[in-house]
Amino acid sequence: MGPMSKRPGTMGVAVGRSVARFDAEEKLRGAAKYVDDLRLPGCLYGVTVRSAIAFGAVKRIDFDPCCPWKDCVVAKASDIPGENCVAAIEADQPLLAPGRIMHAMEPILLVAHPDRRMVWQAPRRIKIAYEEQEPVLTIADSLAKRQLLRGDDNVFKSYLIEKGNVNAGFAEAAFIVEGEYRTPPQEHAYIEPNGMAAWVEKDGTIVVVGSMQCPYYVQKSLKRVFPGRGIRVIQAATGGGFGGKEEYPSMLAGHAALLAVKSGKPVKMIYDRAEDMAATPKRHPSIVRHRTGLDRYGRLVCQDISVLMDGGAYLTLSPVILSRGTLHATGPYECPNVRVRSKVVATNTPPNGAFRGFGAPQTLFAAEAHWEKIASETGLDPLKLRRLNLFKEGSVLATGQVLRESVGASEALETCVKSSGFERKRRSYAALNKKPGTAWKGIGLALVHHGPGFTGGGEVMLASRAAVSFGRDGAVSVLVANTEIGQGASTVLPQIVAETLGIETGLVRFETPDTSKVPDSGPTVASRTTMVIGELLRRASLRLKAAVAPDGAFPRDRKGLALAGRRLCAKGRLYFEERYEKPPEIHWDEDAYKGDAYGTYGYEAIAVDLAVDRTTYEVTVERVFTATDVGRAINPALVRGQIAGGTAQGLGFALIENAVFSKGSMANGQLTNYVIPTAVDTPPMVLDIIEKPYSRGPFGAKGIGELPMNAPAPAVAAAVRAATGLLIADLPILPEKICAGLMKKRGASQ
Ligand code: MOS
Repeated sequence: MGPMSKRPGTMGVAVGRSVARFDAEEKLRGAAKYVDDLRLPGCLYGVTVRSAIAFGAVKRIDFDPCCPWKDCVVAKASDIPGENCVAAIEADQPLLAPGRIMHAMEPILLVAHPDRRMVWQAPRRIKIAYEEQEPVLTIADSLAKRQLLRGDDNVFKSYLIEKGNVNAGFAEAAFIVEGEYRTPPQEHAYIEPNGMAAWVEKDGTIVVVGSMQCPYYVQKSLKRVFPGRGIRVIQAATGGGFGGKEEYPSMLAGHAALLAVKSGKPVKMIYDRAEDMAATPKRHPSIVRHRTGLDRYGRLVCQDISVLMDGGAYLTLSPVILSRGTLHATGPYECPNVRVRSKVVATNTPPNGAFRGFGAPQTLFAAEAHWEKIASETGLDPLKLRRLNLFKEGSVLATGQVLRESVGASEALETCVKSSGFERKRRSYAALNKKPGTAWKGIGLALVHHGPGFTGGGEVMLASRAAVSFGRDGAVSVLVANTEIGQGASTVLPQIVAETLGIETGLVRFETPDTSKVPDSGPTVASRTTMVIGELLRRASLRLKAAVAPDGAFPRDRKGLALAGRRLCAKGRLYFEERYEKPPEIHWDEDAYKGDAYGTYGYEAIAVDLAVDRTTYEVTVERVFTATDVGRAINPALVRGQIAGGTAQGLGFALIENAVFSKGSMANGQLTNYVIPTAVDTPPMVLDIIEKPYSRGPFGAKGIGELPMNAPAPAVAAAVRAATGLLIADLPILPEKICAGLMKKRGASQ
């Protein structure tokens, strides 16, 4: 059974239709050009020589005298013309370690050679002697300041949100429930590893082409490494990102460009899976503690939450990941007294980074699994607890934000409860589990939210620009820096333009993101593309429409468009650009951490129906039911694709993805032993779409990319508890953890 759903909302000429992906045909035919498919005559292949230790310094580097090093180009930190940095929020991370080593797999040298097989040998022929120090590998050791890695306390960033009076709340609460929840690092496992090509044009401009989410991030970082040069960044077809190609491509682009500048030749650097898994960021591991006060009916009285995340060796995007995690930490529930304290700390592991959900899957796992703890300690029903406390219109959030519109939490929950048969199954499974059998059955629920777009004042700071143009040939083009990374941006954005103009989607072109051709519409992250950039394109399209057809008669077919193009564009194309402006009703105070953290939120309820083998404790997810408030489904098939994909990724996070770190480096960095869900592990899904339109989103749309990642893990934990009686608060929920938990329980009851 494939994904099914209720038919969402109304259909326009383009919006609400599941039009085929623009990139489908060329990808199916194998014609799409990924970076490694580019033919670059005379190109060299680059590799990275990386640190074998987690913390210390480089003492000596010896090149094996038997190797033909004169045929190689070797680049060192001292070859960098500008700043030795990967510029993200700060520029604390070096492009090449200048001597001090902060994590295993840290880049030290680059080597390029025309023979791809030969160059892979190079790292083994370079002997590096180190002065090793005891690394800091856990959040606890970092907080204990066993070594100082950053500032005087190892803390990259901390936040505090306060609403009401938590202490007074605990004094009046009928129940007080505490819990601790842990999440592990997670690998993105995009289908295409990181890869980048670079060369230098005759005029000195550096051109970089590769697999990436954010061309302008790469450009911004390269400008600091190569001051005074033109930098042009072009996205190649990209085989998935999931946040893993948000910040890391700035590093790899810097490496490829440095080798290109030094050698004067085009250079390709393509990671294999092992290098990609060992060297690039993971989802931040987290420890979240909840102390919750409730009245005797189960209404929230106070929530005291602490969030700790492991940032790894450099700051990268940790402050904003922690911020999103902190802001989502309460779950989609209203509570009069809230305190959330959070910290992200430095350790000697490769920097952790952006990953679908961006901190929220960690804190929402805790918030939702904690309802199970509350239910077990109070005897109250977790479904009723949610119904009592969930966000509705008029709710006041922990930051003081008032939800004015587009709040689909209740509708999502009720739709999911109904479609999954939650209440009936819960009763029948409980009865079944008392009888002999080979498996215990369980159904578990979670309700989550996600704020699309940058946090707080982020969108104002980005000041994104997006444009549409109309050419002499009658072509309507979308000009944005937002990338197609498999999510469907190159189809959905043209749909929004087409709907606004009243033409078929096929008449709109999506131009390749190339910093020399498209305006800076910001990064392709944070579930912002459809909602934020889509709205800019809608407004730009309205201006285009008024210019081409002041009488309202916009041409509807290719012929009409070409006629209008010839008539209007004799002196070049028409070009309409819109820039993001803060809606007047949104207020955010960064210092006080108060106000509208996000313009709106999407909501998803999920029910996971699973079986636990009574002998092996293996968990089989049999069915998943979701109900997701997306505002408006611009392309229902693509929306369902995002939900199904995020759900599968979330089930992997919940149950099987187990990144093992040893001495600060990933010990199971291959897909043979870091196991991700395949098609056979992915259960049938019933995916209902709910449309509570958001007035600032194009045709009501809210972002959908990350929301589905937040939901599965806590629902799995709830279902495993229903099946076994154990609340496993430490992901992934492996059979051995269930086994150990049951043994302990049996031991205790004997
Ligand atoms: Mo992202 S995880 O906002 O690319």
